[in-house]
Amino acid sequence: MKALILSGGKGTRLRPLTYTGAKQLVPVANKPILWYGIEEMVTAGITDIGIIISPETGAEVQAKTGNGERFGANITYILQDKPAGLAHAVQVARPFLRDSPFVMYLGDNVIQQGDLSYFLKKFIQETQDALILLRPVANPSAFGVAKVDDAGRVLQLIEKPKIPPSNLALVGVYFFSHIIHEAIATIQPSTRGELEITDAIQCLIDRKKQVVACKLEGWWLDTGKKDDLLEANRLILDTYLTKSILGMVDSESQIIGRVQIGERSRIINCTIRGPVVIGTDCHLENCFIGPYSSIADNVTLIETDLEHSVVLENAKIVGIHQRIIDSVIGQRAQLTIAPRRPKALRFMIGDDCHIELT
Ligand code: G1P
Repeated sequence: MKALILSGGKGTRLRPLTYTGAKQLVPVANKPILWYGIEEMVTAGITDIGIIISPETGAEVQAKTGNGERFGANITYILQDKPAGLAHAVQVARPFLRDSPFVMYLGDNVIQQGDLSYFLKKFIQETQDALILLRPVANPSAFGVAKVDDAGRVLQLIEKPKIPPSNLALVGVYFFSHIIHEAIATIQPSTRGELEITDAIQCLIDRKKQVVACKLEGWWLDTGKKDDLLEANRLILDTYLTKSILGMVDSESQIIGRVQIGERSRIINCTIRGPVVIGTDCHLENCFIGPYSSIADNVTLIETDLEHSVVLENAKIVGIHQRIIDSVIGQRAQLTIAPRRPKALRFMIGDDCHIELT
């Protein structure tokens, strides 16, 4: 059994963060999204992992993630030279996959711990041609959607339908036998110009191959957009964070609940109400940090009131006395305020940023 994790694409829906980095490396609870998938594979016993990378962000993904040693896995990087679709990625990975069965996992998806092992066992024991996961969603038009019969058998799969036949979205985790390669060889690019994995699975269904659909009961997040990213951050902090304080906390500070503070971070006169994770080498002074916040390494926060937010590496926020909520602050971003009450706002805002003064 092998794994193919997709970490290419342009990440347009997470701009501006993705102008300077891969969307799969954006951290959730201070860990790149991509790593959750890798760890899930290893927990499920799959250590032979191929990662699809793009020319734009491949080097960064590779440099950060390494050869797999830190995960107890063996990682092979596979370059997809253009974003020509999920099925195209499988085609490109054929020399790595050979005729092995495999799990295909979209690198910006996160599913609940343990679910991958559960469905992998099911796939292996029942030796299907394909096993797909479905999950009811409020906005099916944004996904691949399944039409199923009363017995739960899949009749049809449609990619991003304008009029969805059901609310069952295709989760970005698929289990395939080698037979998928034959199906991919027969499909044509879709109207968006991509070789869709959805069409390849449809081809298996049409040929009466064994395609089993299971309902995913645990949570699933496609972190492609800001609010999904914040929701993933909330869920992961809520479920997995344990208390650990390695940095320095002064006697004026109050740490409440599950809070992680990394090495060499200094917390001065702050109230931190967990779950909150703070990386290494941060400086926090006179701050309130509320639940569901993740602060990456080397961040400076002074006189800041923040909650349910993600702050990336080397960002600096000083003197913003209004509460910052539901926000994602990019790497090296600076949010500061003039020493006296400002009469005007002065911005240097990158393309595609969202600023909401509420
Ligand atoms: C892809 C698939 C879609 C699936 C989704 C899950 O969409 O094409 O069928 O439902 O992932 O995250 P994309 O994220 O490429 O728009």
